[in-house]
Amino acid sequence: MEIIRTIDWMKQVSRAARDKGLSIGFVPTMGALHEGHLSLVRAASAGHSPVVVSIFVNPAQFGPQEDLSKYPRQLEKDAVMLEAEGVDYIFMPEAAEVYPPNFRTYVTVEGLADRLEGKSRPGHFRGVTTVVLKLLEIVQPHAAYFGRKDAQQARIIRQMARDLSLDAEIAVQPIVREPDGLAMSSRNAYLNSEERRAAASLSRALAAAAARITSGERKAAALLELAREVLTSEPLVRPDYVELVSAETFEPIALIGAPSLLLIAAYVGTTSGAGRATRLIDNLQITPAASGILAKL
Ligand code: PAJ
Repeated sequence: MEIIRTIDWMKQVSRAARDKGLSIGFVPTMGALHEGHLSLVRAASAGHSPVVVSIFVNPAQFGPQEDLSKYPRQLEKDAVMLEAEGVDYIFMPEAAEVYPPNFRTYVTVEGLADRLEGKSRPGHFRGVTTVVLKLLEIVQPHAAYFGRKDAQQARIIRQMARDLSLDAEIAVQPIVREPDGLAMSSRNAYLNSEERRAAASLSRALAAAAARITSGERKAAALLELAREVLTSEPLVRPDYVELVSAETFEPIALIGAPSLLLIAAYVGTTSGAGRATRLIDNLQITPAASGILAKL
Protein backbone atom coordinates (compact mmCIF):
# COMPACT_ATOMS: atom_id res chain seq x y z
CA MET A 1 0.00 0.00 0.00
CA GLU A 2 1.27 3.43 -0.91
CA ILE A 3 0.33 6.76 0.68
CA ILE A 4 0.02 9.56 -1.85
CA ARG A 5 -0.02 13.18 -0.72
CA THR A 6 0.11 15.24 -3.89
CA ILE A 7 -2.39 15.71 -6.69
CA ASP A 8 0.29 15.38 -9.40
CA TRP A 9 1.51 12.05 -8.09
CA MET A 10 -2.03 10.68 -7.68
CA LYS A 11 -2.82 11.68 -11.27
CA GLN A 12 0.33 9.97 -12.54
CA VAL A 13 -0.48 6.77 -10.67
CA SER A 14 -4.05 6.75 -12.01
CA ARG A 15 -2.93 7.48 -15.55
CA ALA A 16 -0.42 4.61 -15.40
CA ALA A 17 -3.11 2.21 -14.09
CA ARG A 18 -5.50 3.25 -16.87
CA ASP A 19 -2.75 2.87 -19.49
CA LYS A 20 -2.29 -0.71 -18.28
CA GLY A 21 -6.02 -1.33 -18.80
CA LEU A 22 -6.70 -1.64 -15.06
CA SER A 23 -10.05 -0.68 -13.53
CA ILE A 24 -9.76 1.80 -10.68
CA GLY A 25 -12.16 1.60 -7.73
CA PHE A 26 -12.37 4.67 -5.49
CA VAL A 27 -13.74 5.26 -1.99
CA PRO A 28 -13.74 8.90 -0.82
CA THR A 29 -13.73 9.32 2.98
CA MET A 30 -12.90 11.79 5.72
CA GLY A 31 -11.09 9.09 7.72
CA ALA A 32 -11.82 7.87 11.28
CA LEU A 33 -12.74 4.70 9.47
CA HIS A 34 -15.26 2.11 10.63
CA GLU A 35 -17.01 -0.94 9.19
CA GLY A 36 -19.28 1.30 7.10
CA HIS A 37 -16.27 2.67 5.23
CA LEU A 38 -14.73 -0.79 5.01
CA SER A 39 -17.90 -2.16 3.40
CA LEU A 40 -17.35 0.36 0.60
CA VAL A 41 -13.71 -0.69 0.32
CA ARG A 42 -14.76 -4.33 0.03
CA ALA A 43 -17.35 -3.52 -2.64
CA ALA A 44 -14.70 -1.57 -4.57
CA SER A 45 -12.17 -4.42 -4.21
CA ALA A 46 -14.68 -6.99 -5.45
CA GLY A 47 -14.92 -5.28 -8.83
CA HIS A 48 -11.75 -3.24 -9.25
CA SER A 49 -8.02 -3.18 -8.95
CA PRO A 50 -6.32 -0.98 -7.94
CA VAL A 51 -8.44 0.44 -5.12
CA VAL A 52 -7.82 4.03 -4.02
CA VAL A 53 -9.20 5.39 -0.72
CA SER A 54 -9.00 9.12 -0.07
CA ILE A 55 -8.80 10.49 3.45
CA PHE A 56 -9.48 14.21 3.47
CA VAL A 57 -11.39 16.16 6.12
CA ASN A 58 -12.85 18.63 3.67
CA PRO A 59 -13.05 22.12 5.22
CA ALA A 60 -15.44 23.33 2.49
CA GLN A 61 -18.28 21.09 3.71
CA PHE A 62 -18.19 22.23 7.36
CA GLY A 63 -20.12 25.30 8.53
CA PRO A 64 -18.39 27.90 10.73
CA GLN A 65 -20.13 26.55 13.86
CA GLU A 66 -19.51 22.89 12.98
CA ASP A 67 -16.97 20.30 14.11
CA LEU A 68 -14.12 20.71 11.57
CA SER A 69 -11.44 21.24 14.24
CA LYS A 70 -12.61 18.40 16.48
CA TYR A 71 -13.52 15.93 13.70
CA PRO A 72 -11.77 12.66 14.69
CA ARG A 73 -8.41 12.13 13.00
CA GLN A 74 -6.67 8.74 13.36
CA LEU A 75 -4.51 8.37 10.29
CA GLU A 76 -2.23 5.63 11.57
CA LYS A 77 -5.12 3.44 12.65
CA ASP A 78 -6.91 4.13 9.35
CA ALA A 79 -3.82 3.11 7.37
CA VAL A 80 -3.55 -0.18 9.28
CA MET A 81 -7.22 -0.94 8.56
CA LEU A 82 -6.87 -0.16 4.87
CA GLU A 83 -3.66 -2.15 4.54
CA ALA A 84 -5.49 -5.16 6.05
CA GLU A 85 -8.21 -4.75 3.38
CA GLY A 86 -5.60 -4.90 0.64
CA VAL A 87 -6.11 -1.28 -0.47
CA ASP A 88 -3.49 -0.20 -3.01
CA TYR A 89 -3.35 3.56 -2.48
CA ILE A 90 -4.39 6.07 0.17
CA PHE A 91 -4.75 9.56 -1.26
CA MET A 92 -4.25 11.96 1.61
CA PRO A 93 -3.69 15.53 0.44
CA GLU A 94 -3.26 18.59 2.67
CA ALA A 95 -6.05 21.19 2.62
CA ALA A 96 -3.70 23.68 0.93
CA GLU A 97 -3.09 21.17 -1.87
CA VAL A 98 -6.82 20.79 -2.54
CA TYR A 99 -7.70 24.45 -1.93
CA PRO A 100 -4.67 26.52 -2.94
CA PRO A 101 -4.73 30.28 -2.33
CA ASN A 102 -7.20 32.04 -4.60
CA PHE A 103 -9.34 28.91 -5.09
CA ARG A 104 -12.60 30.20 -6.59
CA THR A 105 -14.56 27.43 -8.28
CA TYR A 106 -17.43 25.62 -6.57
CA VAL A 107 -19.98 23.16 -7.93
CA THR A 108 -23.61 23.17 -6.79
CA VAL A 109 -26.45 20.83 -7.62
CA GLU A 110 -29.51 23.06 -7.59
CA GLY A 111 -32.75 22.20 -5.78
CA LEU A 112 -31.72 18.83 -4.35
CA ALA A 113 -29.01 20.47 -2.26
CA ASP A 114 -31.26 23.08 -0.65
CA ARG A 115 -33.51 20.80 1.38
CA LEU A 116 -33.08 18.67 4.53
CA GLU A 117 -29.32 18.37 5.17
CA GLY A 118 -28.75 21.31 2.85
CA LYS A 119 -31.21 23.47 4.77
CA SER A 120 -29.83 22.51 8.19
CA ARG A 121 -26.22 22.82 6.99
CA PRO A 122 -26.07 25.73 4.49
CA GLY A 123 -23.19 25.32 2.05
CA HIS A 124 -22.55 21.73 3.10
CA PHE A 125 -23.41 20.06 -0.21
CA ARG A 126 -21.59 22.74 -2.20
CA GLY A 127 -18.48 21.69 -0.31
CA VAL A 128 -19.22 18.00 -0.86
CA THR A 129 -19.87 18.23 -4.60
CA THR A 130 -16.87 20.48 -5.14
CA VAL A 131 -14.46 18.13 -3.39
CA VAL A 132 -15.98 14.97 -4.87
CA LEU A 133 -15.77 16.35 -8.42
CA LYS A 134 -12.17 17.38 -7.77
CA LEU A 135 -11.30 13.97 -6.32
CA LEU A 136 -12.92 12.20 -9.29
CA GLU A 137 -10.86 14.36 -11.66
CA ILE A 138 -7.66 13.51 -9.79
CA VAL A 139 -8.24 9.79 -9.17
CA GLN A 140 -10.00 9.09 -12.49
CA PRO A 141 -11.81 6.02 -11.14
CA HIS A 142 -13.98 3.67 -13.17
CA ALA A 143 -16.32 3.46 -10.18
CA ALA A 144 -16.69 5.47 -6.95
CA TYR A 145 -18.42 4.02 -3.88
CA PHE A 146 -20.71 5.87 -1.49
CA GLY A 147 -22.91 4.82 1.45
CA ARG A 148 -26.69 5.10 1.63
CA LYS A 149 -26.16 6.29 5.21
CA ASP A 150 -25.76 9.72 3.56
CA ALA A 151 -28.68 9.19 1.18
CA GLN A 152 -29.09 12.81 0.10
CA GLN A 153 -25.35 13.12 -0.52
CA ALA A 154 -25.42 9.97 -2.68
CA ARG A 155 -28.42 11.27 -4.63
CA ILE A 156 -26.75 14.66 -5.22
CA ILE A 157 -23.48 13.06 -6.36
CA ARG A 158 -25.39 10.83 -8.79
CA GLN A 159 -27.11 13.93 -10.16
CA MET A 160 -23.79 15.74 -10.55
CA ALA A 161 -22.27 12.74 -12.34
CA ARG A 162 -25.22 12.59 -14.71
CA ASP A 163 -25.42 16.35 -15.33
CA LEU A 164 -21.69 16.75 -15.95
CA SER A 165 -21.35 13.50 -17.98
CA LEU A 166 -18.73 12.13 -15.61
CA ASP A 167 -17.19 8.80 -16.59
CA ALA A 168 -17.15 7.19 -13.15
CA GLU A 169 -19.96 4.84 -12.19
CA ILE A 170 -21.48 6.01 -8.89
CA ALA A 171 -22.21 2.96 -6.69
CA VAL A 172 -24.30 3.27 -3.52
CA GLN A 173 -23.99 0.64 -0.79
CA PRO A 174 -26.24 -0.36 2.17
CA ILE A 175 -25.97 1.10 5.67
CA VAL A 176 -23.73 -0.77 8.11
CA ARG A 177 -25.06 -0.71 11.68
CA GLU A 178 -23.94 -1.47 15.23
CA PRO A 179 -25.63 -4.47 16.90
CA ASP A 180 -28.27 -2.20 18.51
CA GLY A 181 -29.11 -0.65 15.13
CA LEU A 182 -27.16 2.62 15.37
CA ALA A 183 -25.80 3.50 11.92
CA MET A 184 -22.01 3.53 12.05
CA SER A 185 -20.56 7.03 11.82
CA SER A 186 -17.24 8.65 12.62
CA ARG A 187 -19.26 11.10 14.75
CA ASN A 188 -20.46 8.28 17.06
CA ALA A 189 -17.06 8.72 18.72
CA TYR A 190 -18.38 11.99 20.24
CA LEU A 191 -21.07 10.17 22.25
CA ASN A 192 -20.64 9.38 25.94
CA SER A 193 -22.14 6.10 27.17
CA GLU A 194 -25.52 7.61 28.03
CA GLU A 195 -25.75 9.39 24.68
CA ARG A 196 -24.58 6.28 22.87
CA ARG A 197 -27.49 4.34 24.37
CA ALA A 198 -29.96 7.12 23.49
CA ALA A 199 -28.62 7.35 19.92
CA ALA A 200 -30.12 3.97 19.12
CA SER A 201 -33.52 5.69 19.11
CA LEU A 202 -32.89 6.97 15.56
CA SER A 203 -32.81 3.47 14.10
CA ARG A 204 -35.52 2.36 16.54
CA ALA A 205 -37.81 5.07 15.17
CA LEU A 206 -37.10 3.91 11.62
CA ALA A 207 -37.63 0.26 12.56
CA ALA A 208 -40.99 1.13 14.13
CA ALA A 209 -42.03 2.89 10.91
CA ALA A 210 -40.80 -0.08 8.86
CA ALA A 211 -42.93 -2.45 10.93
CA ARG A 212 -45.95 -0.17 10.46
CA ILE A 213 -45.36 -0.11 6.69
CA THR A 214 -45.12 -3.89 6.61
CA SER A 215 -48.47 -4.09 8.36
CA GLY A 216 -50.04 -1.91 5.67
CA GLU A 217 -49.70 1.78 6.60
CA ARG A 218 -49.09 4.01 3.56
CA LYS A 219 -49.76 7.49 4.95
CA ALA A 220 -46.74 9.71 5.60
CA ALA A 221 -48.46 11.59 8.44
CA ALA A 222 -49.03 8.40 10.48
CA LEU A 223 -45.49 7.10 9.86
CA LEU A 224 -43.85 10.41 10.72
CA GLU A 225 -45.87 10.75 13.90
CA LEU A 226 -44.82 7.29 15.00
CA ALA A 227 -41.15 7.93 14.19
CA ARG A 228 -41.19 11.28 16.05
CA GLU A 229 -42.85 9.63 19.04
CA VAL A 230 -40.13 6.97 19.31
CA LEU A 231 -37.39 9.58 18.86
CA THR A 232 -38.72 12.03 21.41
CA SER A 233 -39.28 9.30 23.99
CA GLU A 234 -35.52 9.69 24.55
CA PRO A 235 -34.97 12.89 26.56
CA LEU A 236 -31.39 13.15 25.26
CA VAL A 237 -32.54 13.21 21.63
CA ARG A 238 -33.82 16.34 19.88
CA PRO A 239 -35.08 15.81 16.32
CA ASP A 240 -33.86 18.24 13.65
CA TYR A 241 -36.08 16.82 10.90
CA VAL A 242 -38.13 13.68 10.32
CA GLU A 243 -39.39 13.52 6.73
CA LEU A 244 -40.74 11.09 4.20
CA VAL A 245 -39.51 12.05 0.72
CA SER A 246 -39.37 10.77 -2.83
CA ALA A 247 -36.04 8.98 -3.40
CA GLU A 248 -35.85 10.76 -6.75
CA THR A 249 -36.71 14.39 -5.92
CA PHE A 250 -36.27 14.47 -2.12
CA GLU A 251 -39.56 16.39 -2.00
CA PRO A 252 -42.02 15.37 0.74
CA ILE A 253 -44.68 12.83 -0.19
CA ALA A 254 -48.05 12.22 1.49
CA LEU A 255 -48.52 8.58 0.51
CA ILE A 256 -46.03 5.79 -0.17
CA GLY A 257 -46.26 4.60 -3.77
CA ALA A 258 -42.91 5.12 -5.44
CA PRO A 259 -39.39 4.57 -4.04
CA SER A 260 -39.01 6.83 -1.03
CA LEU A 261 -36.94 7.46 2.06
CA LEU A 262 -37.81 8.18 5.65
CA LEU A 263 -35.03 10.51 6.75
CA ILE A 264 -34.07 11.46 10.31
CA ALA A 265 -31.58 14.00 11.59
CA ALA A 266 -31.34 14.49 15.34
CA TYR A 267 -29.14 16.02 17.99
CA VAL A 268 -28.03 13.66 20.72
CA GLY A 269 -26.85 15.09 24.04
CA THR A 270 -27.22 18.43 25.76
CA THR A 271 -27.44 21.53 23.60
CA SER A 272 -26.66 23.92 26.44
CA GLY A 273 -23.27 25.56 26.81
CA ALA A 274 -20.97 25.33 23.80
CA GLY A 275 -23.35 23.12 21.80
CA ARG A 276 -21.91 19.77 22.68
CA ALA A 277 -24.80 17.86 21.13
CA THR A 278 -23.86 15.45 18.35
CA ARG A 279 -25.87 15.64 15.13
CA LEU A 280 -26.62 12.21 13.65
CA ILE A 281 -28.54 11.13 10.55
CA ASP A 282 -30.17 7.87 9.48
CA ASN A 283 -32.75 6.69 6.97
CA LEU A 284 -35.12 3.95 5.93
CA GLN A 285 -35.32 2.92 2.28
CA ILE A 286 -38.86 2.19 1.10
CA THR A 287 -39.31 0.33 -2.19
CA PRO A 288 -42.55 -0.89 -3.74
CA ALA A 289 -42.16 -4.47 -5.00
CA ALA A 290 -44.41 -7.17 -6.42
CA SER A 291 -44.60 -8.78 -2.97
CA GLY A 292 -45.64 -5.54 -1.25
CA ILE A 293 -43.67 -2.58 0.02
CA LEU A 294 -40.16 -3.34 1.21
CA ALA A 295 -38.80 -1.17 4.02
CA LYS A 296 -35.05 -1.58 4.53
CA LEU A 297 -33.03 -0.12 7.36
P1 PAJ B 1 -17.44 10.12 5.43
O1 PAJ B 1 -18.44 10.61 6.41
O2 PAJ B 1 -16.08 9.73 5.91
O3 PAJ B 1 -18.09 8.90 4.67
C1 PAJ B 1 -17.41 8.31 3.59
C2 PAJ B 1 -18.38 7.35 2.92
O4 PAJ B 1 -18.73 6.31 3.83
C3 PAJ B 1 -19.69 8.05 2.50
O5 PAJ B 1 -20.07 7.61 1.20
C4 PAJ B 1 -20.66 7.57 3.56
O6 PAJ B 1 -22.01 7.54 3.12
C5 PAJ B 1 -20.14 6.18 3.84
N1 PAJ B 1 -20.61 5.69 5.14
C6 PAJ B 1 -20.51 6.32 6.34
N2 PAJ B 1 -21.10 5.60 7.31
C7 PAJ B 1 -21.60 4.49 6.71
C8 PAJ B 1 -22.35 3.35 7.17
N3 PAJ B 1 -22.69 3.21 8.45
N4 PAJ B 1 -22.70 2.41 6.26
C9 PAJ B 1 -22.35 2.54 4.96
N5 PAJ B 1 -21.66 3.59 4.46
C10 PAJ B 1 -21.28 4.55 5.32
O7 PAJ B 1 -19.28 11.29 3.39
C11 PAJ B 1 -18.18 11.78 3.51
O8 PAJ B 1 -17.20 11.24 4.29
C12 PAJ B 1 -17.77 13.04 2.76
O9 PAJ B 1 -18.89 13.85 2.56
C13 PAJ B 1 -17.07 12.75 1.40
C14 PAJ B 1 -18.01 12.01 0.44
C15 PAJ B 1 -15.79 11.94 1.61
C16 PAJ B 1 -16.68 14.09 0.74
O10 PAJ B 1 -15.84 14.83 1.56
